[in-house]
Amino acid sequence: MNKYHGKSTTVLKPRTTKEVSEIVKWCNDRRIGIVPQGGNTGLVGGSVPVKDELILSLANMSKVRAFDDVSGILVADAGCILQSLSDYLAPHNYVFPLDLGAKGSCQVGGNVSTNAGGLRLLRYGSLHGTVLGLEVVLPDGTILDQLTALRKDNTGYDLKQLFIGAEGTLGIVTGVSILTAPAPQALNNVMLALPKFDNVLPLFKEVKRQLSEILSAFEYIDRSVYDLAVKHNQGRALDAEEVEGAECFVLVETSGGNREHDEQKLNNLLESLMEADEPLINTGVLATSPAQFASLWAIREGLTEAVSKEGKAYKYDISVPLQKFQEVLDITREHLKSKGLMREGAVRHVVGYGHVGDGKSGNLHLNVVADAYTPEIEAALEPFVYELVAKYKGSVSAEHGIGVMKTHALQYSKNAVSIDWMKRIKQLFDPKGIMNPGKVLP
Ligand code: MLT
Ligand code: ZN
Repeated sequence: MNKYHGKSTTVLKPRTTKEVSEIVKWCNDRRIGIVPQGGNTGLVGGSVPVKDELILSLANMSKVRAFDDVSGILVADAGCILQSLSDYLAPHNYVFPLDLGAKGSCQVGGNVSTNAGGLRLLRYGSLHGTVLGLEVVLPDGTILDQLTALRKDNTGYDLKQLFIGAEGTLGIVTGVSILTAPAPQALNNVMLALPKFDNVLPLFKEVKRQLSEILSAFEYIDRSVYDLAVKHNQGRALDAEEVEGAECFVLVETSGGNREHDEQKLNNLLESLMEADEPLINTGVLATSPAQFASLWAIREGLTEAVSKEGKAYKYDISVPLQKFQEVLDITREHLKSKGLMREGAVRHVVGYGHVGDGKSGNLHLNVVADAYTPEIEAALEPFVYELVAKYKGSVSAEHGIGVMKTHALQYSKNAVSIDWMKRIKQLFDPKGIMNPGKVLP
């Protein structure tokens, strides 16, 4: 995003957990701040220094330590790139239970530290469930070895959970034990064009009812961000008649055990949707080859890049009730208009996309695309957006984390008692405040 610039002079790239431990101990003794850095693909500035901290990159710790092809439990160094772990698992007929657009460069330690959500949370759940154990270097250099491969272990406090989503503020994740999933035998996807946003929820209900156990993703893409993806060449664009009159799109993916059965289910779904008296969709484009499958996903996975190619994005990653997605976009656009900021030279687009199936509320990525980051636009957006989220009892960060960008917004999603206990936990683990200073806590 090119939004945060530190003044670090030093990057260390240890090869072993012991080296990480020695570096951390050395820094702790001298009160030197450390920024643990994975693939550096985060969207809230969590992996970049705010001042002159030492950058500790996990990039040289990139080995798979063990894999058991009966249980599917994988133990890997924190610096393993997500895509390389998927490639490693493929011949064993397993898949990594997390998938996201940045998979080509993000690292599993960063994924765990940010509790990344991604595109298939609907199917495999969050990392709080799939991570079985962690190895963490604590702020004084102690190695906390909780790299168990047990699915069941009710022996007191589950410490590893504290590090999942802590964004490196409590210690550095150096190893991960995770339950991978049997690879689906058949993957399909379909891009559905909807005449209006109001159809998204009834469509979700119907898709869940008909596809049930094979549904693995249900992703919402509004028209304006779809157009940006096409403009910036992300994936195969649908034909002109397929997008005509579409106010938004939904990308549905199925992962099942039998190609014929799954295709039948998808075809039946499409037929019933098209033949309804008041169809919920205008049209549906079903991938008929692996290349088309990849291409439809490329549109969805390319949205972040398309937005950043278009301008400077103010990114809000919020949980709000599904039925409020459109309202949030409209209210934000109107608000910017009322401030005279929806114009050339200021804000160009207010767009939305996200993960519909992630819970009672959905995860909306509200992106405000401007020509430049300016104090005026920022003042118009904040706390405006956060107050809106608080009104809906949502979350100011559904999956991207807090980083440095949202520390001031934490209070809109966490009450004072919660923040106080978070601070106490931080103090307990890191009394000298060397671990990723300036991140997460206000
Ligand atoms: C996504 O869903 O594409 C990611 O969370 C990244 C983003 O919000 O831009
Ligand atoms: Zn997302």
